[in-house]
Amino acid sequence: MRRLIFAVLMATVPAVALSAEDIQTNPPASATEAEGLEAWSRIYEVTSHSRCSNCHTGPSDRPMWSGPSYGAEPRRHGMNIRAGESRIGAETLPCSTCHGAQNGEVPHSPPDNASGWMLAPVEAHWFGQSSRTICEQLRDPARNGGRTLNEVAQHLGHDLILRWAWAPGPGREPAPYSLQEHVDDLLIWGVAGAPCPQQ
Ligand code: HEC
Ligand code: HEC
Repeated sequence: MRRLIFAVLMATVPAVALSAEDIQTNPPASATEAEGLEAWSRIYEVTSHSRCSNCHTGPSDRPMWSGPSYGAEPRRHGMNIRAGESRIGAETLPCSTCHGAQNGEVPHSPPDNASGWMLAPVEAHWFGQSSRTICEQLRDPARNGGRTLNEVAQHLGHDLILRWAWAPGPGREPAPYSLQEHVDDLLIWGVAGAPCPQQ
């Protein structure tokens, strides 16, 4: 009987508790430029991954559908979805019409975790961009929301959309590494002076 109650309880608990995780944001005491560049190459793997770049489409207001769950070729979001200047689709069809409180249970249902789904700011243009281009954008306070790299790391620890990228629902591959490892890499990169690769 107890077993049965346990099984029923577990079935109603979401697989990942999206807000309970505690993210550490203490920077390391020091990091060399080489360590910074290594950390950056892992950061680039994350920022260029479909789970991140599909929303970071820059001047385009069209979200992307890319990654294995969408087939071989990247394409624009179906149904002619446009984010508009509001980045939330206020001018046409709001993202929240379909992106609701939680990931759907079947593949290809609209993903979300009650984060306030919207397209990233124009300056944070990552889709199809080179490692160097993303690197220079992310370290530039004029284009990263006015943040120091420490503040970027802090911000990511609290960002619900980010948590979604590591718990994206059925059929979608999560972003590489973990949120904590990504935050650690940002801190190492920042302490090393935010070096960017040649290309
Ligand atoms: C659902 C769309 C969406 C997805 C998916 C998404 N982002 Fe974002 N991102 C946003 C929005 C909206 C903002 C602006 C609001 C803010 O700063 O929190 C943003 C801002 C940021 C910022 C702030 C600094 C800057 O350059 O503007 C960083 C860093 C960031 N995202 C990283 C990521 C990473 C890493 C991933 C994947 C693990 C990711 N995002 C996935 C929508 C998204
Ligand atoms: C009419 C319903 C609908 C609206 C409105 C909508 N979406 Fe979607 N969206 C979907 C569906 C369904 C999927 C998943 C498709 C699949 O997995 O094949 C999706 C997937 C996505 C993805 C891909 C996530 C990933 O990496 O797998 C992004 C990014 C996205 N939507 C952004 C937006 C943004 C931004 C808005 C508002 C400007 C928006 N969507 C409005 C239905 C919608």
